[in-house]
Amino acid sequence: MQQQARIGLIGLGTMGAALALNIAEKGFAIAVWNRTTAVTHRFKAEAGALTDRVILTETLQDLVAAIAKPRTIILMVPAGHAVDDQIAALASLLDADDLIVDAGNANFHDTNRRNSAGLPVRFLGMGVSGGEDGARHGPSIMGGGAQADWDRIADILTAISAKAEDGSACATWMGEAGAGHFVKTVHNGIEYADMQMIAEVYGVMRDGLGMEAAAIAATFARWNDGPLKSYLIEISAAVAAASDPLTGNPMLDVILDAAGQKGTGRWTAIEAQHLSAPVPVIEAAVAARNLSARRAERQAGEAVFGPAPQAVAGLPLEALEHALIAGKILCYAQGFAMIDAAARDFGWAMPLPDIARVWRAGCIIRSSMLNDMAAALTEDARRNLILAPALADRLKASVPALRQVVAAGALNGLALPALSAGLAWFDMARTARGTANMIQGQRDFFGAHGFDRLDGADRHHGPWGAH
Ligand code: 6PG
Repeated sequence: MQQQARIGLIGLGTMGAALALNIAEKGFAIAVWNRTTAVTHRFKAEAGALTDRVILTETLQDLVAAIAKPRTIILMVPAGHAVDDQIAALASLLDADDLIVDAGNANFHDTNRRNSAGLPVRFLGMGVSGGEDGARHGPSIMGGGAQADWDRIADILTAISAKAEDGSACATWMGEAGAGHFVKTVHNGIEYADMQMIAEVYGVMRDGLGMEAAAIAATFARWNDGPLKSYLIEISAAVAAASDPLTGNPMLDVILDAAGQKGTGRWTAIEAQHLSAPVPVIEAAVAARNLSARRAERQAGEAVFGPAPQAVAGLPLEALEHALIAGKILCYAQGFAMIDAAARDFGWAMPLPDIARVWRAGCIIRSSMLNDMAAALTEDARRNLILAPALADRLKASVPALRQVVAAGALNGLALPALSAGLAWFDMARTARGTANMIQGQRDFFGAHGFDRLDGADRHHGPWGAH
């Protein structure tokens, strides 16, 4: 057998196997274990030349014995009970200064709970984004827990992570406890929103402008050479360009229009409400997935009200591109403000400029615009992104197109929930004199809740009298 491993990993499913191979490839000896031994044997075949740096084990005891002290073990098991069960199984085998790293898509509340549960070992919660390819060749890594524990394995995490164009590693410690999983959750909320806005624009092209999938693919591909350059635009072009091997039709025309979800977008929306941090673009994206899944209801709706989409006259493709640019800035502004709210609420470090940097490569929402966002947050991390001069200029140039697209959707029955939510949020966020004075008046009328006055006078109830 080889020397002792620097690190261990449990769970050789798709993501775990890819991460283990990535670690071995970067020169770190790794010991691995999977509940089902057949999976471990399959992994051995996949490891090929990297087997020299991999110690395959068949029991948890062997795994623990194969790792150099103080030990670090990465868990790549399904989020939830499986993580608790695995921690419980390891607890009696490990020493107090050994470190368990949960690299799954955990709910950050679970990570908080595990951190405060007085575990007999050290514990880090780590968000990993980038799917299988990212895990194998360079994911974006968002860590949470004690900084000293992060520092202990930072060399490995830095080595295996994606590298941005400037060469910097996309792996950062976000703060204590569940901070890393929280950032990953917001990443996924933004992922839902980005995907929904792209789907909405696709719908305008398909139903409003009558474009074929190939022309839509070419449009996305062209946009990917401009300000929208991003992984999600790139894959949208590829998805639109693909043909179904069974029928020869465009793939998009055979895929059922009902979106799946595992829950991370929903967690973002729920947490945003707890934090009083408005993220309406993400909320709209989650709601749109839910509504998409209610296909029978939508069919019943169409039977009663008739088909909605009608041709949109005279809407240039450039307007759609600008609508997406504006929508993206507005959505990210909401996401970063939500992370800032969490930093205050939970007392977490949350280095906002670094979060933007960590998302520049490896993860699903990687995009060139994150460079501008990182720069804006470096200037002033607490200022809302829409107020950063460079992004404000972009919004000034693109919001008229967003308005045009949302208006065209409203007039022609094309549903654009996320883009509309972004525009409505923007219009509230840039209106100094809003309409909540009416709400305050109503609250005082029916419940004597009181209000503050614009003139500062010391009279906090209206002259409503008995009613
Ligand atoms: C990532 C992805 C990854 C996964 C999503 C899918 O960053 O690598 O976000 O975590 O693809 O969880 O989520 P849904 O199934 O909810 O769309």
